[in-house]
Amino acid sequence: MQPVERAISTRSVEIPPFLVMDVLERAMDMARDGREVIHLEVGEPDFDTPANIIQAGIEALKAGKTHYTSSIGIYELRHAIADHYRKTYGVRVDPDTVVVTSGSSPAIFLVLAAILDPGSEVILSDPHYACYPNFVKFLGGVPVFVEAPAKNGFQMDPDDVAKAVTERTRAILVNSPANPTGTVMESDRMQRLAELNVPIISDEIYHGLVYEGQEHSILEFTKDAFVVNGFSKLFAMTGWRLGYLIAGGDYIRPIQKMSQNFFISAADFIQYAGVEALTNSSGETKRMKEVFNQRRQAMVARLKEIGFRIEVDPTAAFYVLADARHFSADSYAFAFEILDEAGVGVAPGIDFGDKAEGFIRFSYTNSLKNILDGLDRIDLYLRNRFGRQEP
Ligand SMILES: Cc1ncc(COP(=O)(O)O)c(C=O)c1O
Repeated sequence: MQPVERAISTRSVEIPPFLVMDVLERAMDMARDGREVIHLEVGEPDFDTPANIIQAGIEALKAGKTHYTSSIGIYELRHAIADHYRKTYGVRVDPDTVVVTSGSSPAIFLVLAAILDPGSEVILSDPHYACYPNFVKFLGGVPVFVEAPAKNGFQMDPDDVAKAVTERTRAILVNSPANPTGTVMESDRMQRLAELNVPIISDEIYHGLVYEGQEHSILEFTKDAFVVNGFSKLFAMTGWRLGYLIAGGDYIRPIQKMSQNFFISAADFIQYAGVEALTNSSGETKRMKEVFNQRRQAMVARLKEIGFRIEVDPTAAFYVLADARHFSADSYAFAFEILDEAGVGVAPGIDFGDKAEGFIRFSYTNSLKNILDGLDRIDLYLRNRFGRQEP
């Protein structure tokens, strides 16, 4: 018998790390060594999941909801999702075109796996959510970036998108409200993207967390679209791992087959908690949103005082993408410098694309006190290092 080679696959070697996790993991090491770090890097709500949702999960467990479910999810939840889209955006969604997943991350994977062949292209904004190009490349596709510069409100220009379309393009991926910019795409821009006649994948995970203006679902503009959404952000349910996708009818069977093979189903009892979240949590989500909004205003004001440049005030999600190029051109090194020297975790812009290099993303998923203390620490550090910076 031939000796068998031990190999680590090229794919798994080549997939880049999620850099913000590198920062978080170093911060955890520092905490273990007794150093107290303030976290402004993580993209997850600091709130506990609302009590009624937890209760619904417990009751479902006690009622024996501990089995596999249909690989596309329980009907009650798919129906509640369809109903949520009808009530919120006035669009008709057939529950049979909804697939429930263990978080929106598997939903992104399934949608891309359903449309990409080797060499297929997906148009992404730059900056973008860190993981998008990694999903595309892992599946053999090619990410094609269109700049979303601050002067455009961190949005892609539909004319630039049109120029990036080739015969290999399979989708345009949009994310409004956006991570890392905290901005919302205007409805006329969505309309113009929809008119390009290219399928649109719309990651709507930050819907409901809009403090100024109005978010729109892509389904208001076109049916030639895939929606990705989940419970992590609005309902403070990151650790529950619950999300979903909405796709055109033809795609459901291929997606269902992948779901059967790779995941079997999302967790049974957690799907019942999802029904409670969608049908009975508006008071709680409103309260969390108000708190996020106060923190947003305080963080933006203080960052500007400290000397970070914020060309586009964020109006949604829970992020501020601040220009720090006058402090450092290397956001990765600068983020670790801030962590090591000031004891504050922040996310390096380079995680979110080449066009975000030199920027730092701050999350306001921490108490107002911790946010202000963290920014005071950064202020002190920058004063010592650079002297006073004017905005
Ligand atoms: C834009 C965006 N999409 C998707 C996700 C993944 O969320 P989850 O898998 O928890 O639903 C995140 C998480 O930060 C995100 O920011």
